[in-house]
Amino acid sequence: MSDLRIAIIIGSTRPGRNGKGVADWVLAKAADRSASYELVDLADFPLPHLDEAMPPAYGQYANEHTKKWAATIAGFDGFIFVTPEYNHSTSGVLKNAIDYLYAEWNNKAAGFVSYGSLGGARAIEHLRGISAELQIATVRQQLSFSLFTDFENFSTFAPGAQHDDSAVTLFEQVEAWAGALKPLRG
Ligand SMILES: Cc1cc2nc3c(=O)[nH]c(=O)nc-3n(C[C@H](O)[C@H](O)[C@H](O)COP(=O)(O)O)c2cc1C
Repeated sequence: MSDLRIAIIIGSTRPGRNGKGVADWVLAKAADRSASYELVDLADFPLPHLDEAMPPAYGQYANEHTKKWAATIAGFDGFIFVTPEYNHSTSGVLKNAIDYLYAEWNNKAAGFVSYGSLGGARAIEHLRGISAELQIATVRQQLSFSLFTDFENFSTFAPGAQHDDSAVTLFEQVEAWAGALKPLRG
């Protein structure tokens, strides 16, 4: 049994969002992994537009909502970001939540799951650059779901079976790097 904790972060908070269904599928696929996977829903962390006076790299968080968010992220070894594509990027709410913290992201691993009209790969590309700045090691395997072929009526998540093997590879890669980076996390 691995002691790794991996957060599946739901990157949309919109009423009627598709992101919850996608994240639930990821969680179900991870059920038999030895690492533990947990949903982290940004809807449960109502962060205002970044309102900390000090840059996050200083680690001097003043606000209770920041401290709560930091304590949550600090407890994880790795992340799977479930991101929609909004205007060729990730969502504002996910970018804002990422911007809030610094050390809590460092020397951890991440993988990406995207969805959108064209699968959301452009959101992932932006998240890879953002992650690099935060010293998050991002794995190669990614999953991208099309609103046209992986959802019924553009709203009920019904992914093709071809994604199953990719999900296993994603979990393997995130766990391997989350474990390998452990010595750097002190
Ligand atoms: C503000 C906004 C911008 C969008 N921009 C894109 C886009 O650039 N490319 C794309 O493929 N889909 C785009 N879409 C479609 C979304 O990816 C799709 O609606 C997805 O379900 C949104 O995630 P959510 O339902 O979890 O909020 C956009 C949707 C919204 C609401």
